[in-house]
Amino acid sequence: MHFDEFLKEVAPCLGLQWRPFQRRGVKRKIERRIIELGFSRFDEYLLRVQKDPEEKSHLSKILTVTISRFFRDKEVFDTLETSALPAIIKNREKGDLNVWSIGCASGEEPYSVSLLWKEKFGKDFPEVRLSVLATDIDEKMLRRAEEGRYKKSSLRETPQEILEKSFNKEDGFFILNPSVRKGVEFKRHDILREEPFPGMDIIFCRNLAFTYFSKESQMKVLKKIFSSLKEKGYLVIGRDESLPLTFPTLFIPIFPAQKFYQRFSGALNLAKDI
Ligand SMILES: C[S@@+](CC[C@H](N)C(=O)[O-])C[C@H]1O[C@@H](n2cnc3c(N)ncnc32)[C@H](O)[C@@H]1O
Repeated sequence: MHFDEFLKEVAPCLGLQWRPFQRRGVKRKIERRIIELGFSRFDEYLLRVQKDPEEKSHLSKILTVTISRFFRDKEVFDTLETSALPAIIKNREKGDLNVWSIGCASGEEPYSVSLLWKEKFGKDFPEVRLSVLATDIDEKMLRRAEEGRYKKSSLRETPQEILEKSFNKEDGFFILNPSVRKGVEFKRHDILREEPFPGMDIIFCRNLAFTYFSKESQMKVLKKIFSSLKEKGYLVIGRDESLPLTFPTLFIPIFPAQKFYQRFSGALNLAKDI
């Protein structure tokens, strides 16, 4: 079995589209994994993946890109600051504000939310506690996230005042202050194969499901996000992504240019059927 045939066969059983990840590097990593497991051919490995959920997760990791950066797509964080967060806290003077970053890579996205909150809202809303959950399928990325050590290139969209206040420079790297690191909880979680976390006000699912996953898996993830969000909670997807159409409507575009959607309460009564 050739590599291309292997990819075509294996992608649907992982819930992925097969085209985007045909790139150099991936083939080498898969060949290395095949040897590690004591196999010598793609078809042997395919059989193993089909039978073993852990190997499915392992291969999914190899096939998705893990690149991210702080304040990626600045307009998203501007909208968060000027529209989404004010709308939520208008009705909530105390208590938790729950944010979930799905596919958080090495922490750039959840830390950006935390930094924005600290800089722009923390002082004015001391009774509101921002709680950020960040999940990824890849343990290695999560350990890196907890370390909080970044290259300058991943910080190029970070506002200067945040960069100066919340990072220390050390050996050419930028180290995030421990107080910010403590504010984000990192957990290993596979959004395709595990149950979602309830009670979220905002969910970020950018540059993962709606880029790499098959249409069927996208629907599955969208329903999980729907059940995880509170009424009128927000879903933010990637700049070049779009949501699959659903019936009934689960999300309505609320700030469409910045890819913010709002959980549609009209679908509440139908939720048990989906
Ligand atoms: C391109 S990064 C996106 C990072 C960030 N959300 C952003 O937009 O900058 C995609 C991340 O999704 C993770 N990932 C891949 N499959 C996943 C799954 N099934 N469940 C959770 N995370 C997954 C990858 O490990 C990777 O870190």
